[in-house]
Amino acid sequence: MTVVDATLVGPMYVTHDIYRLLLGPSWSRVDTARLERAADDRIVLVTGASSGIGEATAELLGAAGATVLLAARRADRLELVRDRITAVGGHAAAYPVDLADLDAVDRLVQDVLVDYGRVDVVVSNAGKSIRRSLADTTDRWHDVTRTNSVNYLGPVRLLTGLLPQMRARGTGQVINVSTLNVDLPAAHWAVYSASKTAFETWLRCIAPEIRVDGVATSSIHFPLVHTPMSAPTYGPWVPGLTAAQAAEVIGRVLVTRPRVLIPWWTRGAALLTTLAQGPYEAATAAVLRIARSR
Ligand SMILES: NC(=O)c1ccc[n+]([C@@H]2O[C@H](COP(=O)([O-])OP(=O)(O)OC[C@H]3O[C@@H](n4cnc5c(N)ncnc54)[C@H](OP(=O)(O)O)[C@@H]3O)[C@@H](O)[C@H]2O)c1
Repeated sequence: MTVVDATLVGPMYVTHDIYRLLLGPSWSRVDTARLERAADDRIVLVTGASSGIGEATAELLGAAGATVLLAARRADRLELVRDRITAVGGHAAAYPVDLADLDAVDRLVQDVLVDYGRVDVVVSNAGKSIRRSLADTTDRWHDVTRTNSVNYLGPVRLLTGLLPQMRARGTGQVINVSTLNVDLPAAHWAVYSASKTAFETWLRCIAPEIRVDGVATSSIHFPLVHTPMSAPTYGPWVPGLTAAQAAEVIGRVLVTRPRVLIPWWTRGAALLTTLAQGPYEAATAAVLRIARSR
């Protein structure tokens, strides 16, 4: 195993690879041949392909033989990703879109179906993160609407448009790039967590309906991944995955199709905070009180 991206954590060196090992085998890289078998000749739409996890996923799946349709707002960045994929013999196309614009999402659905006839896999990855207290949100209602548009309404509209052709063909896969914030709601993350939870709940509700027609759904509740999104909140010394490692997890999920992937320790912590919700919130309030008094 190659140990890369060594990061200083307190007095000891912890690598992102060791962090991934601690998450368990479900978070490991899948064998390249298996990934190529799963990706080959597939039409995969990756939202948020201009940066971070989506960009790394697009490159991984493009190298594995998928035709990757790249969606995000920044056309110039999508074109760079497309060119990197095609430069090594892969197939990719850029579809600039703002997921908060539902008419634009409808046009995206039309365009990809006209251009390619089908979409086999949707990696619903584009997202907007926001860490803000309630007090700071009062004068920023647009943060609430925009975050919900990008993380919930846009992805629902996209899938509502793309799922019929998957169901009609009796095959397809949706991979939801979610967060452990949906299991562990935390102070200052209300708008982000609620929007991600809304999409997760929508997906849970429709999962059996589309499973009947051969369409699989997977949700990955990622812990910290070091990307432009997380950089303003978490420095590189905080244990987390790299974008490339997160992409490899998505590659594994493409192959193994688990319904949900959650870090083992998140399940325990979620159970604890649910069973002891009152004490958990009291402890959080105490921490916030101390922070405020400083
Ligand atoms: N980083 C983490 O620690 C972490 C942890 C758990 C889950 N996640 C999830 O992982 C996903 C990817 O995040 P990331 O960390 O890779 O962040 P990132 O590097 O900031 O990437 C976010 C992507 O979403 C796209 N996007 C944002 N707003 C959009 C819009 N209105 N329309 C279309 N695309 C839009 C961005 O492209 P444009 O700006 O070009 O539009 C970009 O490609 C998100 O859903 C996030 O919730 C991240």
